[in-house]
Amino acid sequence: MTNPFSRNKINIDTEMHCHILPTVGCDPEFTNQALDVLRIFQYYGVNTVYATPHVRLTRPSNTYESILERAEVFKKQVAENKIKVKIEVAAEYYFDEGLSDLIDNENLITYPESHVLIELPLRIKPDNLDEIIKKLCTKGYKPIIAHPELHHYLRYDWKMIADLKGQGCLFQINLINMAGYFGDDVVVAAENLLRAKTYDLVGTGAHSREQLRLINEQILQNRDYIALLRNTKFKNKMFSKEKATFSSIFF
Ligand SMILES: [Fe+2]
Repeated sequence: MTNPFSRNKINIDTEMHCHILPTVGCDPEFTNQALDVLRIFQYYGVNTVYATPHVRLTRPSNTYESILERAEVFKKQVAENKIKVKIEVAAEYYFDEGLSDLIDNENLITYPESHVLIELPLRIKPDNLDEIIKKLCTKGYKPIIAHPELHHYLRYDWKMIADLKGQGCLFQINLINMAGYFGDDVVVAAENLLRAKTYDLVGTGAHSREQLRLINEQILQNRDYIALLRNTKFKNKMFSKEKATFSSIFF
């Protein structure tokens, strides 16, 4: 099959942020959609996909144990469907009152080398931001700040961004945000952050086939965006499970 997007290579082989992990006993359509999303990633040459369910106090069913259990079930379904993408699991930890205890108990599901995905509050900077980031780092975790383009108090505060980087944080863009899913102000913020070379990592943030279609239409057909993304030295390869064999593409 001809790949219509081959001219739009971003040279990334690992998807690190998406919400496709089915719950046990869920509607089969959800699992079918998750498998289709993996088939789309496989088509684009992605070799490793991390599913990153939300962990937050308002979603008590997403625990360390339940996520790992769901991942095992899903890995079997992926194998049964002969999908070659390697499915891995991490989690997206919301910065709420429960996070401190999870850090204390070292109960976080991470990427390789203890990298952990952190979602900050949307509109108001938490008073204890520095304290929790320091606690994470002291415990040996390497925080990744998810989608700063969404966060009103962060996306234009270059000093805060520099301070977080100085503490060891990495920054990750969600392509679904750049595709306009949450409005033009988010798109402009993402463009500015890309130009400022803020991002270290890229993910889709996708929940569905439809969101991947939107990313295709709005980003992969846009030469300026492709150039901006290619101009960033994303480090996703450090999470790849196929380091030795692939030099592949992301979309
Ligand atoms: Fe997310």
